[in-house]
Amino acid sequence: MILEGLPTVQRDLPWRRSRDPWEILVSELMLQQTQVARVLPKYAAFLDRFPTVASCAEGSVGEVVTLWKGLGYNRRAVNLHRCATRVVAGHGGSIPDSLDQLLDLPGIGPYTARAILAFAFERDVAVVDTNVGRVLARQLGRQLRSAEVQALADDLVPAGQGWAWNQAMLDHGALVCTKRNPQCGECAVAPTCVWQGVGEDPAVGSSAVSTPQSRFAGSDRQGRGRLVDALRVGPVAFDDLAAVMGWAGDPDRARRVADTLVTDGLAIIAADGFRLPVTSV
Ligand code: ADE
Repeated sequence: MILEGLPTVQRDLPWRRSRDPWEILVSELMLQQTQVARVLPKYAAFLDRFPTVASCAEGSVGEVVTLWKGLGYNRRAVNLHRCATRVVAGHGGSIPDSLDQLLDLPGIGPYTARAILAFAFERDVAVVDTNVGRVLARQLGRQLRSAEVQALADDLVPAGQGWAWNQAMLDHGALVCTKRNPQCGECAVAPTCVWQGVGEDPAVGSSAVSTPQSRFAGSDRQGRGRLVDALRVGPVAFDDLAAVMGWAGDPDRARRVADTLVTDGLAIIAADGFRLPVTSV
């Protein structure tokens, strides 16, 4: 059996002290594309303001976006608010504990759904993020196909230990079996690892392992991020869009990209220009 003797949970993180489904959901959405160190201060501040699903559903999406500052990928903030309103409207304010119902919520994909099942409800399902995908590909010494990763990972979860096993896997991927410079010399599960750091890395190009991000500088995403940062401070007049987005010479591009924020629920068009959405979505 691969990963025999995987060390237990290593890091004491605030969301690991909780089994509250809302607190877990918030942590997992934040952690999806943002590093732990960046998430820590934002997580505490977010839960101070929105300690429950209901409190978030009652707040405005604009306020959720404001609290999302520094985390990036702001669409996650809109999804989180939509998720809260749907849980209140459709599930009596309780986050569901079935995979199908979780997958049905806005912004909840296979990763987040299983993370909630494992970390809030302590179910024996495998949480497969890019770190876990990398660990598995290296242990087996080959690129994995998308159809097989989840089933393979599920088979490894020791009965009754879904919570601890998944946290230990995330720690192993974050601390030892890292993307660059893995610590194979200090790895407790090197004996079952086919790769062991020698030769081509089987995780590269494997399913469930993220591919490199395209360039941020000069991208639409950069302009969107700048505009949302400005909107957190206050409305932005139509004539100021291009300057705020860093494209002073290209107002057409600025307007076109700004409109995508409206489509995504991150901004609204008011008489005086663009604003954060104030109402519930
Ligand atoms: N990344 C995603 N979920 C995590 C967790 N529960 N602990 C640490 N890092 C994570």
